[in-house]
Amino acid sequence: MHDPYDPNTTIADHAHGIARAESAITRLAALRRDRWYPQFHIASAGGWINDPNGLSWFDGRWHVFYQLHPFSTSWGPMHWGHVSSADMLSWHREPTAFAPSILADRDGVYSGSAVTGDDGKLYVFYTGHRWANGVDEAEGNLEVQCLAVSDDGIHFNKLGAVVDNPARLFHFRDPKVWRQDGTWYMIVGRRSPDRRGEIVWYTSANMLDWTYGGVLYRHPDPQVFMLECPDFYPLAAPDGHVSWVLCYSAMSRRDSGLANKNIAGYVIGTWRPGEAFCPRTAFRPWDEGPNFYAPQSMLAPDGRRLMYGWMSPLSSASLKDDGWCGQLTLPREIILDVDGSIRCRPAAELASLRDTTHEFGPLELAANEQRELLADAGALEIELTVDLGRTSAERAGIKVHATPDGGFTYIAYDAQRGLVVVDRMATSSGEHGYRAARLDPDELRAATLELRAFIDRGSVEVFVNGGRHAISAYSLPAEGQRAVKLLAENGALSVPCARTHRLRSIGLA
Ligand code: FRU
Repeated sequence: MHDPYDPNTTIADHAHGIARAESAITRLAALRRDRWYPQFHIASAGGWINDPNGLSWFDGRWHVFYQLHPFSTSWGPMHWGHVSSADMLSWHREPTAFAPSILADRDGVYSGSAVTGDDGKLYVFYTGHRWANGVDEAEGNLEVQCLAVSDDGIHFNKLGAVVDNPARLFHFRDPKVWRQDGTWYMIVGRRSPDRRGEIVWYTSANMLDWTYGGVLYRHPDPQVFMLECPDFYPLAAPDGHVSWVLCYSAMSRRDSGLANKNIAGYVIGTWRPGEAFCPRTAFRPWDEGPNFYAPQSMLAPDGRRLMYGWMSPLSSASLKDDGWCGQLTLPREIILDVDGSIRCRPAAELASLRDTTHEFGPLELAANEQRELLADAGALEIELTVDLGRTSAERAGIKVHATPDGGFTYIAYDAQRGLVVVDRMATSSGEHGYRAARLDPDELRAATLELRAFIDRGSVEVFVNGGRHAISAYSLPAEGQRAVKLLAENGALSVPCARTHRLRSIGLA
């Protein structure tokens, strides 16, 4: 007789679960309000999304999956949404890829990753999530790693659990799989039996049978109890020297001291297969903004390491009223620089989204002068070079989403403290606050400061000095025209080069 507790027991028809998800999205999308709906970021047509999943180049297309709750604008039992693109510029909506349908994923098809097998099929590893009591975490979770396979990258056949959780660890999830020297490796984040945040590794010859290898990394802070969404890959510096980058989203019992309680970042070090990871650097967050979490990377066919993050809207309550909630960041290329540090810059493809370009520079603003660059900007990229030697302003920068109600979001250089900030104290709706990236001493000594900002309909993503810092934030403007203005506070601002580019839609309206 079939064991009813077998995690692979079918409990619902998968095709039916997907059809239910699709019609729920269609219902929400029909009522959607578009005041903040992104034009060039990936979002669901309706419902809630979180982590990017299964990032891959498969069968001549980019595939981006994401955690999806199709039935409301809040987090709930997880499905996987899916979009694909041939060029990373124009995206196409694919049907929902996964819905809960086996006992193992009854309460959620949680995060995971994708790889192409030798047979040319797309293999997806994900966490099957159950609440022990079937309702919430109160009595613990049952989390196991599952496998699904697809011929076309769109329709999947679930093969069931491949990595069990015999110790019944409360947190044990987010498998990231890659192949090296003919062996498949999987890393998984967990809360260890002694309640520490750890990443463990497994190996397999056939992707079905996995052998536990050991602990790859244990977080040094005992307050950190879980490392979500681990990722691990080699990066070569320009001199050819290879380092390994270990990435995770750390859940902590106390404030991380880095503004966000749970924070996504990386440690650089060395690794030899079969051994634990040896960190060389301290932990660094990927992004200094309030809305960045759970990133995942993929290796592009041309060798680039590309990453998407989730713009986590956990505290932007007003984003939930419009029929959709949550978007991914832009794709970012991760590179290792000569000095051994990481740069994180918008993927090169994004330059081809540019439509109408305005050249403004050179611009000289007198103390307390404000100058309007655009009266009504749609989705926009801004490139700004600040001449640090000729700028005496205490703070200077660019106001975006500046609306008739007086609201705006301010992307500025704070000369007194050596910061680049995203100041949302005057933003019309949503969360307020002030987030800062601290410039390094050599950046403060440099002749210029380079800012590149992507202003979507409800967000800003700022890259500083070729990707040395990034700041992502939702920015929810009021009704009416959205102006862009330059401002110099109590001193002069010298801008040798200022450019704006209107950006085309990525086609996911
Ligand atoms: C990170 C995360 C993952 C989990 C998923 C569930 O945001 O908590 O650890 O797989 O979201 O939606």
